[in-house]
Amino acid sequence: MGTLMARITAAARSDGDDGIGIRTLKALDAVSGAEELDAVTEPLKRAVQGLPLGRLRGVLHGRPLGHPLHPALVQIPVGAWIAAGVLDLVPGSERAARLLVAVGVVSAAPAVWTGWVDWAEQHEQQMRTGLLHAASIAAAVGLYGASWTARSRDRGGLGRALGFAGLTAVGTGAALGGHLAYRQAAGANKTEAVAHLVEPGWHTLGRPEEFATGTGVRRMLGEVPVLVVRKSDDVFHVLADRCSHFSGPLSEGEVADGCVTCPWHGSVFRLSDGWNVGGPATAPQPTFDTRTDGKGNLQARLPGAG
Ligand code: FES
Repeated sequence: MGTLMARITAAARSDGDDGIGIRTLKALDAVSGAEELDAVTEPLKRAVQGLPLGRLRGVLHGRPLGHPLHPALVQIPVGAWIAAGVLDLVPGSERAARLLVAVGVVSAAPAVWTGWVDWAEQHEQQMRTGLLHAASIAAAVGLYGASWTARSRDRGGLGRALGFAGLTAVGTGAALGGHLAYRQAAGANKTEAVAHLVEPGWHTLGRPEEFATGTGVRRMLGEVPVLVVRKSDDVFHVLADRCSHFSGPLSEGEVADGCVTCPWHGSVFRLSDGWNVGGPATAPQPTFDTRTDGKGNLQARLPGAG
């Protein structure tokens, strides 16, 4: 751990004109590259993956919403705690502030669950940053719990001080969450760019006889890899090959029962329309129209594009 701290400190050291923002980002990049943390993340990941959550796991990921549920749920505790902080500055608002502190602590529980479930299906680099994010939020929940206790025992001054310490911790956690979501792209739909990268019009994928029935084959549509599955003699399914969850190669996954399962985290996509029907992916997989041209070549295009 000493080596890790030394590396983070070295990364944060100013290089020339680097300001505090760049130094902080370099320190965070050092955290995401710190393999020492895997001694913690690996067993934790297995424990979260082993929880018997059944169908609830997909709900916690946000599959019914079409995007991660976690960022939506965190609004409740964060909003309650910010409001409590404002009321702490308004004389006569002690009861309302105490109630909001409690609302934040209670509503943090579902938000935390969704965060852990998402975290357990991320890349190592994201999981390492996620540990820091989780530690900040755990500190915030602990501080706000202590704040509520102090307020309930008529120790308002201490309660407010603990509340502002909690607000600092939750602010740090929120900044780390933003880093995870936007710089490290955790939770984003990795196939969003497909529609912008494939040129309009029909593209030749090969001769139909090159594709065995029921087997996934990888081909390129311009610079976009696609998965081609032959369902029957003249019915083909073509989907973007890179999984919407974290870009896993679907062409290396299992094709069965009209679906393909991603080899990385087990997201299941229906071949007919790309819909994500299982696993952690919250966005469906782009699909393509197919046809056989006048020369007998199998072709594909973006739906309705040219
Ligand atoms: S990359 Fe995670 S399920 Fe496909």
